[in-house]
Amino acid sequence: MKRSITRYSLFILIAAGFITCKTQAPQTKVTQSQGVYQYKDEDPTVKPFFSDRVGVTGRNGMVASAHPEASQVGLNILKAGGNAVDAAVAVQFALAVVYPGAGNIGGGGFMVYRDNAGKAYSLDYREKAPAAATKDMYLDSVGNVRPGLSISGHLASGVPGSVDGMAEAHKRFGKLTWAQVLQPAIDLAANGFALTERDALGLNRVKGDLNTINPGKSYFMKSIVPTDTMTWHPGDKLVQADLAKTLQRIQAQGRAGFYEGETARLLAEEMVRGKGIITEEDLKNYHSVWRDPIQATYKEYNVITMPPTSSGGVALVQLMRFVEPFPLRKWGWNRDSTAQVMIEAERRVYADRAKFLGDPDFVKVPVAQLISPDYLRSRWADFSWAKATNSNDLKGGVIPGYESLETTHFSVVDKDGNAVSITTTLNGGYGSRVVVSGAGFFMNNEMDDFSVKPGVPNMYGLVGNQANAIAPNKRMLSSMTPTILEKDGKLFMVVGTPGGSTIMTSVYQTILNVIEHGMTMQQAVNALKFHHQWLPDKTIFENGAFSESTIDYLKNRGYILEKLTNTLGRMDCVLVRPDGSYEGASDPRADNTARGY
Ligand code: GLY
Repeated sequence: MKRSITRYSLFILIAAGFITCKTQAPQTKVTQSQGVYQYKDEDPTVKPFFSDRVGVTGRNGMVASAHPEASQVGLNILKAGGNAVDAAVAVQFALAVVYPGAGNIGGGGFMVYRDNAGKAYSLDYREKAPAAATKDMYLDSVGNVRPGLSISGHLASGVPGSVDGMAEAHKRFGKLTWAQVLQPAIDLAANGFALTERDALGLNRVKGDLNTINPGKSYFMKSIVPTDTMTWHPGDKLVQADLAKTLQRIQAQGRAGFYEGETARLLAEEMVRGKGIITEEDLKNYHSVWRDPIQATYKEYNVITMPPTSSGGVALVQLMRFVEPFPLRKWGWNRDSTAQVMIEAERRVYADRAKFLGDPDFVKVPVAQLISPDYLRSRWADFSWAKATNSNDLKGGVIPGYESLETTHFSVVDKDGNAVSITTTLNGGYGSRVVVSGAGFFMNNEMDDFSVKPGVPNMYGLVGNQANAIAPNKRMLSSMTPTILEKDGKLFMVVGTPGGSTIMTSVYQTILNVIEHGMTMQQAVNALKFHHQWLPDKTIFENGAFSESTIDYLKNRGYILEKLTNTLGRMDCVLVRPDGSYEGASDPRADNTARGY
């Protein structure tokens, strides 16, 4: 009986949607003619793309990452006969050198891998809480959060996972030697590389913190003498001699070059110096985990994505399945009804995230139930076309601000069709801003991704509960969503982005832009994005993501909209086109670059 009622409700919803559709302004269409997608804009107030960048094509391999130097490293590895995993490992280490704001060896991440025979894997190399961590470690004696302690400085770091993750991935799937895939990063660190304008801006932005947190150290500082020479400029060369030595130890000893011996000693000493709690024992005990990826169908596609400890995969499948019954293409890209159901889906998904998601090694996460179509149908019960759902009726919370959305993603496909999707992070830009003395790398501030106190938002405004409470050796919940899609059993898309809490919604919209709205991969990346995360109860959007008439439509129904002055997403993706060639798409919003051959 219950089931028939929910099915009936769904029918009413869909029917109501079709009726709404008839009253809409002309739709924004992306159409295909003679194999080239043409954007046809029938509404002059809609400007759906951040830029007109076109994708990079290749038949033999593709790498898309946040930095041109790192993408070039990946391409060189592919050309040297490496497979997608070899290239991905080389890119992870190269990003640790050329993209220190998010690329890392002092952080962690997630890999989704699909081999060319269609077998899928996922590797969780997320950081862990140190053994001495406690549930209330960021609270004062009366239970209030001590501001900033989980974000900045030595106590903010989890035990890093990236080096172990790369060693695991390479041991299982690599073809070239470990020494070969490490060498490009060592060369970049030892010989230096020319900063882009964005690189220079980033380093200049954090120099105050670098001085305060690492007094007397010159890491990532052009000079520690307070004169004009402190300022980095585009084209300046950044040489990282200590980091080169750390990478050489990793090259020579594998994971032991980081988790034991000299590097571990330097890291533990750094912790003692700054009253952090990571010990050499914590480092020795760190191990990444192979997990079964989430695999879920959406229409004729199979979505392969990251299971918990990331919330990203669950959320992505929920988001996609929430809107699967609706005719989004007919309604039009980001138009009234499309925008409304997508926002309402986002609201419901983030409410579930806060309640149910955490480290699966510590709490039971009901993944199958959360992504089941029956459950998702039932979640539409309180939806109304006439009025926005009130997030506080779903669950209470606090309105926070938005801060740094750093993290980084890269996608790789090799000539044989093996595909890697990796998202990796220090959490905030340049992590905790602690640089390990003598070892030359930034430490993460991933402890802030725990729920430091139930109901209190983290730096992304995300709230959580017991499922994501701090415990020794537990992994903190993530939003990272490295994802691979199959169509008709064949590799179709490799996708992902940084963006903190906005990761899932950017991945979701990018995928739908291709499969529902017919965009090329690059157009889907260029397309403007929006985001709702349940709390705060508002939709943030890139200027131009909604037409004026859609803004009116949403406002008239009680939606709170906030136009961003900055941007959403830094997508790096690869699409397999019908002729088997690859389209690499990198985000024009930053230095992201695709390289293929
Ligand atoms: N640190 C961002 C995330 O893992 O979601």
